[in-house]
Amino acid sequence: MSYLDATQDLYKEAALTPDVGLCCTTTPVWQFPGLSIPKIMQEMNYGCGSTVSAQDLVNNPKILYVGVGGGMELLQFAYFSRQKGGVTGVDTVDEMLEASKKNFKIAEEENDWFQSDFVNLVKGDALNLPVEDESIDVAAQNCLFNIFKMEDLKKAVGEMYRVLKPHGRLVMSDPICEQPMNDALRNDDRLRAQCLSGSIPLKDYVKVLTDAGFGTIEIRGRRSYRVLSPNHYPTDELIHIESIEIAAIKDPMPADGPCMFTGKTAIYYGNEEYFDDKKGHVLLQNQPLAVCDKTAAALAKESDEIHVSESTWHYNGGGCC
Ligand SMILES: C[S@@+](CC[C@H](N)C(=O)[O-])C[C@H]1O[C@@H](n2cnc3c(N)ncnc32)[C@H](O)[C@@H]1O
Repeated sequence: MSYLDATQDLYKEAALTPDVGLCCTTTPVWQFPGLSIPKIMQEMNYGCGSTVSAQDLVNNPKILYVGVGGGMELLQFAYFSRQKGGVTGVDTVDEMLEASKKNFKIAEEENDWFQSDFVNLVKGDALNLPVEDESIDVAAQNCLFNIFKMEDLKKAVGEMYRVLKPHGRLVMSDPICEQPMNDALRNDDRLRAQCLSGSIPLKDYVKVLTDAGFGTIEIRGRRSYRVLSPNHYPTDELIHIESIEIAAIKDPMPADGPCMFTGKTAIYYGNEEYFDDKKGHVLLQNQPLAVCDKTAAALAKESDEIHVSESTWHYNGGGCC
């Protein structure tokens, strides 16, 4: 049985018998005015962060969500899109599609603004999406792609890139791990399916996104997630896993490489009214400007009167690259 089959089996079980501890989000369940999230959806929250941000959801976006789980994030997306078929949910596991369908019925009873047909549930595979090219504004996945081995991860990201419109956004949350993991962990299909042993370092994860063509990357959150300790897992050392929230935007690739925002800010503190690097960045005296890592490095070299902060790993818009 391949690890992909083992994954299907695990999520079939998790659809039939909700498993509250299966994944564990590092963010609270976002509550919005007038939104009631059914208890069963919260119990079936198998993500590790959040992919729902109001900033992505202006102008009636067409949303695609891959790996639906209990449907909680699709309901949150539907809260913003509020149109028939505004959110398409794709999943390979029949039982999960069936469970989320039931959960949307409950959501309909608890939310007078919501109709089940705001969400279009489709059976399909992240590795071969049943979705037209360039038809989606916001594509999301939460805690699925970390399960994929490298070649499959590249395929899944390539599929998301294909279906997004130009400047569309891929928003994701996944575990990452900066430490090497041994083969016993890596090859344990069940641990992989549980989002515990497939995670890779952030730079490798980002490389898959930029190799696919995404020109802008935003790291929106980075938090401690799990520890694999020798007394519970086949490892001789403690392994620390983090979770990230990340957006990859289908902007054209800049000639000098992708723009990656990790939460750096530049502040000019010289005597002039402003500092202009003549490359599109004007720093008003003592005003913070969010910058991408490339610009941060260039500004730090260009003037000794600019303070460039460390990455906060909490970037949520603004600034320039
Ligand atoms: C870790 S759960 C995450 C569920 C949901 N995103 C959440 O945050 O609660 C992974 C989901 O992906 C689905 N899945 C597994 N393999 C898949 C594949 N190859 N393509 C699409 N969905 C898949 C599972 O059925 C499950 O719903």
